[in-house]
Amino acid sequence: MSKIIISPSILSADFANLERDIKRVECAGADWLHIDVMDGHFVPNITIGVPVIASIKKVAQIPLDVHLMIENPQKYIESFVKAGSNILTFHYEAVGNSEVISLIRFIKSFGIKAGLSIKPHTPVSEIMKYLSEADMLLIMTVEPGFGGQKFMEECAEKIKPARENYTDLIIQVDGGINAVTGKFCRYLGADSLVAGSYIYGADDIQKAVKMLREV
Ligand code: DX5
Ligand code: ZN
Repeated sequence: MSKIIISPSILSADFANLERDIKRVECAGADWLHIDVMDGHFVPNITIGVPVIASIKKVAQIPLDVHLMIENPQKYIESFVKAGSNILTFHYEAVGNSEVISLIRFIKSFGIKAGLSIKPHTPVSEIMKYLSEADMLLIMTVEPGFGGQKFMEECAEKIKPARENYTDLIIQVDGGINAVTGKFCRYLGADSLVAGSYIYGADDIQKAVKMLREV
């Protein structure tokens, strides 16, 4: 089995103490830092944008795993690359079918990893053909937009067919991940676990990251 990649979501961090909260997960052994970008259109919530990511880049030691939940991602790719993204993921539902491959290639042309994400109601079969070009598939296991929601088991079932078709693809899950749901996803073939409330809501962050690593 591939090495597990733990990516804490700073959506559940204290934004007034972001540097402290980034250091906390780094000290706990996090592999990547998951940053949720929401525009109030693709999802009904607004979070952070390019300037905040550029500032995070100055203090973070681990790779920035940027999850774009925005419309027209193609317009902003370059800005998010320049801000310091190491893994840049956009939503399949936010672009036209004819744009998926070119956008993946555009992201990769900057020498960073390109991820493609699907919402709960999008079947994985619909994007299977694009995954040979992508570095990562991000399977949403909640409706994107907010932290702290309940894990949708039926979404995690999408991991299996993707894994069967692509052995080297990084498969990431995001939404409602804890030690129990994380173990289930890992069993189905996921490599990367995103967790916001489970990690930042824990009394002992170190222990929460360790629990995820050991699933
Ligand atoms: C939701 C975001 C997630 C969110 C996960 O749209 O993409 O990354 O932070 O939060 P939890 O782990 O609390 O479900
Ligand atoms: Zn996310």
